[in-house]
Amino acid sequence: MTVLVIGATGKTGRPVVEALTARGVKTRAASRNPGANGVTFDWANRDTWAPALEGVEGLYLVPPYAVPDGAGLVRDLLAAAHDARRVVLLSLLGVDLLPDVIPMAVWEDEVRSSRKEWTILRPNWFQQNFGEGFAPALHEGGVLELPAADAAVAFVDTRDIADVAAAALTEQGHARNVYVLTGPRALSHAEALRVLGEAVDRKLTYTALEPGAFADGMRKAGADDRSVTWQRGLFALIRDGENAVVTDTVERVTGHPARPLESYAQENASIWRDQ
Ligand SMILES: NC(=O)c1ccc[n+]([C@@H]2O[C@H](COP(=O)([O-])OP(=O)(O)OC[C@H]3O[C@@H](n4cnc5c(N)ncnc54)[C@H](OP(=O)(O)O)[C@@H]3O)[C@@H](O)[C@H]2O)c1
Repeated sequence: MTVLVIGATGKTGRPVVEALTARGVKTRAASRNPGANGVTFDWANRDTWAPALEGVEGLYLVPPYAVPDGAGLVRDLLAAAHDARRVVLLSLLGVDLLPDVIPMAVWEDEVRSSRKEWTILRPNWFQQNFGEGFAPALHEGGVLELPAADAAVAFVDTRDIADVAAAALTEQGHARNVYVLTGPRALSHAEALRVLGEAVDRKLTYTALEPGAFADGMRKAGADDRSVTWQRGLFALIRDGENAVVTDTVERVTGHPARPLESYAQENASIWRDQ
């Protein structure tokens, strides 16, 4: 079996490639700028699709969230993926609560109406954000500013998402399932930063931003209206308590418990050190 992993350079795609390789599955790692073992794939350039899809029996889809006019792209890609029997879509927790704001709702519908054996993953916020997108602010100033109030989030390790994706792509029994994936406990951002700070022996702090100030900051950094609206929606869900949910799906599907933030923090402590 060969699986095309879209978003293979990203936070879930990298461990998906690792998890499939560990199961003896051949993977094709897709990127707009692939390395030696990857394949060129760009949602926004359909000429790249056919060579990437050639002979592929399984698909891991990080959807075209960054392509402004992305409706229809997942549907068309699935139609072009003639040989692909199984597909796993990376969606997100809360997509069903704000379907007009969060673009993944469209792609869930496109996957559901395909003739593939589909599985949809709805993960909570990733633990890996602290070590990637949020890392520069934490490394430099030790402060993270977000409009999350003091609401709790059951941050999930992307390696657990990858283990679930690998199971869904290689085992029977996962078709037509929507899996809500979370970490083992819900923490506020202040508590999460305390966990990271203890691992690195440094004070890391969280500051609650007003949603309007957050939106202004995104616009100043060059974000378009669509991204601002979508991100504001996601943080509104957090403030409403929607991301505090803890599920046992990782353990049910993979047989191992979901990884706690403490493990991620200890394994990656050097990221947040201030020297
Ligand atoms: N971050 C979270 O906490 C979180 C939580 C739940 C769900 N999600 C979902 O996860 C998805 C990924 O978000 P992320 O911010 O964490 O990013 P990420 O997966 O770390 O990185 C984005 C990936 O998408 C690929 N990509 C971007 N534009 C592409 C294009 N035009 N064509 C092909 N590939 C493209 C990038 O590959 P190249 O740059 O190599 O081409 C990269 O591998 C989003 O749909 C988001 O809703 C994220």
